[in-house]
Amino acid sequence: MKEKLTAIQAQAEQAIAAAESLADLEEIRLRFLGKKGELTSLLRQMGSLPPEERPVVGKLANEVRDALETALARAHQDLAREEQERKLAREKVDISLPGRKPLRGAVHPLNHVRRRIEDIFLGMGYTIEEGPEIESDYYNFVALNLPRHHPARDMQDTFYIDEETVLRTHTSPVQVRTMEKMCPAPLKMICPGKVYRKDDDATHSPMFFQIEGLVIDKGITLADLKGTLLLFAREMFGPQQQIRLRPSYFPFTEPSAEVDILCTACNGKGCRMCADTGWLEILGAGMVHPRVLEMSGYDSSQVSGFAFGMGIDRVAMLLYGITDIRYLYQNDLRTLKQFPGGLA
Ligand code: PHE
Repeated sequence: MKEKLTAIQAQAEQAIAAAESLADLEEIRLRFLGKKGELTSLLRQMGSLPPEERPVVGKLANEVRDALETALARAHQDLAREEQERKLAREKVDISLPGRKPLRGAVHPLNHVRRRIEDIFLGMGYTIEEGPEIESDYYNFVALNLPRHHPARDMQDTFYIDEETVLRTHTSPVQVRTMEKMCPAPLKMICPGKVYRKDDDATHSPMFFQIEGLVIDKGITLADLKGTLLLFAREMFGPQQQIRLRPSYFPFTEPSAEVDILCTACNGKGCRMCADTGWLEILGAGMVHPRVLEMSGYDSSQVSGFAFGMGIDRVAMLLYGITDIRYLYQNDLRTLKQFPGGLA
């Protein structure tokens, strides 16, 4: 029995020394010290020993168990440390490596320009109004002094949904809706949004963006319109900007004007972009036609107003020197990255 005990101790110590992992150690512990382990089984046979030998063998067995437990504990400590070190080595992060920059989204150039225009007019106390893109013939045309069969309807190549319904060709119907809503109160509003026309070339897209503005109050004159637009042009295109008004025709304004700014490419000297005129057209404007005021419930002998409208796409093209409007709608990252606030 004594020899068996020392043999078990030797075997176990050898196994412990050879253990390579905590799992190995656990296996060894079960093999020798577990309930069915070799040492435990041997101790069960103690009963068959003569009584005088039992205390001696018992003492030895305890010593063997103590020795094995100590050896296991020590090996456990060593292996645990080794495993920890291996794990740390495996998970090591090189914090000196340059990070991967996440790709950040950004505001589209058209929205960027739209917000800039909105900010300028918000600063002058205008409200921002919106309306439907699918619009009735009445709001898109009739209420703007364009009755059915009026020849000026041809100025806008309209997408008809049915006899009474169109895709709005301008944001002016929002002005009519706001006039009706606010009447008879004074009014100072802009309406940005999408508009649609049967047009498709380098400077016209079938869907594009407009911002129109409308002011109605007592004593509003053409001088108010001109001052407002000059201030806008300077905020938008630079403090040296100038504007000029050329007589024009819109059914909903009288008198009407087309408004030019100094050419953004040559600053008025004359170049290819402005066809040597030194000027670029950016918007249409005029004094609200009395009939338009009356149709929406205003007394044209008491109040007057001015209105203007511009293409956001056109402003963006002038501002950034974009030659083809389609670049604004292709969402090509190579294009978008070139704009201020574009993708980093
Ligand atoms: N609604 C006109 C257009 O889309 C622009 C405009 C608005 C002209 C207001 C004059 C006054 O062409």
